[in-house]
Amino acid sequence: MKRIKNFAKGDQIQKRLEEMVPGGSHTYSKGESQFPEHAPKIISHAKGAYCWDMDGNKFLDWGMGIRISVLGHSYPVVDEAVKKQIDLGTNFTRPSILEFELAQYLTNLWPCAEMVKFGKNGSDVTTAAIKLSRAFTGRKYVAVCKDHPFFSVGDWFIGTTPCNSGIPEEISSLTLSFGYNDITSLETLFAKYPKQIAAIILEPVKNDKPKPGYLQQLRNITSREGTILIFDEIVSGLRFDIRGAHHLYKVMPDLATFGKAIANGYSCSVLAGKKEIMELGGLHHSKPKVFLLSQTHSSETIGLAATLATLKECERVNISQYINQIGKKLVSGVRELAQAEKVQDFVRVIGFDCNPQILCTKKDGTFWPELHTSFHEEVIANGVLIPWTSITYSHTENELEITFEALRMGMKKVQKALETSTVEKSFFGKAIKPVFRKYNNL
Ligand SMILES: Cc1ncc(COP(=O)(O)O)c(C=O)c1O
Repeated sequence: MKRIKNFAKGDQIQKRLEEMVPGGSHTYSKGESQFPEHAPKIISHAKGAYCWDMDGNKFLDWGMGIRISVLGHSYPVVDEAVKKQIDLGTNFTRPSILEFELAQYLTNLWPCAEMVKFGKNGSDVTTAAIKLSRAFTGRKYVAVCKDHPFFSVGDWFIGTTPCNSGIPEEISSLTLSFGYNDITSLETLFAKYPKQIAAIILEPVKNDKPKPGYLQQLRNITSREGTILIFDEIVSGLRFDIRGAHHLYKVMPDLATFGKAIANGYSCSVLAGKKEIMELGGLHHSKPKVFLLSQTHSSETIGLAATLATLKECERVNISQYINQIGKKLVSGVRELAQAEKVQDFVRVIGFDCNPQILCTKKDGTFWPELHTSFHEEVIANGVLIPWTSITYSHTENELEITFEALRMGMKKVQKALETSTVEKSFFGKAIKPVFRKYNNL
């Protein structure tokens, strides 16, 4: 395959975009400092497992936006439902029939959903879950799992990161943290803040397997403490199980949040949970009313139609099983390649088969930004965009073959750089940096 070298038009547009839009993108994870400099900068279109940049380069896309798809870009069944809905109108003066249909479908499909409420982004529903928990318990503290990278753009979460400029300490100090698979850290919190913690929030599974009984212990402790257990299924939902990863482990949260891929690229998120908590946002009780997700676009029908079509298609094709099967081959293939190219201590795969992550590290396992940048520069030059791994129904054996070839080239390159101690000089421009940093130049 011809190496991709020309990013000139994208570079030019990106520079101009940065003059008009702070950060030059609408998600920091898509922006400058997250990719090598020799990478596609501006995308013109995408279809199935592929996308094209403004220079006309074609890439096999494993990023799928920020994991917004489980079926593939521009998936026909979903897009047909959307096109049909456009002709019927996109937002009405009273609730649309789709709000009824989707609510009925979800409360039947998801055992955790006695009631549901819709939003547009994941942050809408995680932030709503936090507010609802505070209202229900009358407590002000919440605790987040510190091993999970992101829960919301809301101040209650961003205030806990190094990028907390603009957020008063009074707000940040109300969010505590605990470690995944670390019951002691949670028990210590409850001992320090007895009957003061409204909710704990975590992804039921991220990269590490839960220790046997861990999730059930969380359930037992939060029930004992009168604390709301929130499982964030925004990434894990659908990939692990259409009912959420927690369903596999048979541990029921009080509230659960879904988003990203549930609408296969359109905008919809869902807060689901127990009726006695959710109905505080309702109009038929005598307690103080919670202002729960009342947004102009929450009832926009396109996202709702897309969600219904996506989930029905996911049920039809048994999406979790498919993703797991492709992921298993991807993970074992990458490990075999790394072994063959003698970089197994430097190019690793972490996480579950259905949600793996390729990481370039030092020998001791710590992340190595320069090696990561060098590796991805070469993988991108060979036509594969895999900043994170969002497997979809459009990724098949053929895409695995293309990916292995590009990864092999990336591994050969870093092997040479490691051998000659030239990692820092082996790529163009600057190394990638963390999204959550206090100063841009760090
Ligand atoms: C686990 C998790 N929760 C919540 C969010 C926030 O979702 P959104 O970006 O749609 O607001 C994200 C986004 O990356 C996420 O990964």
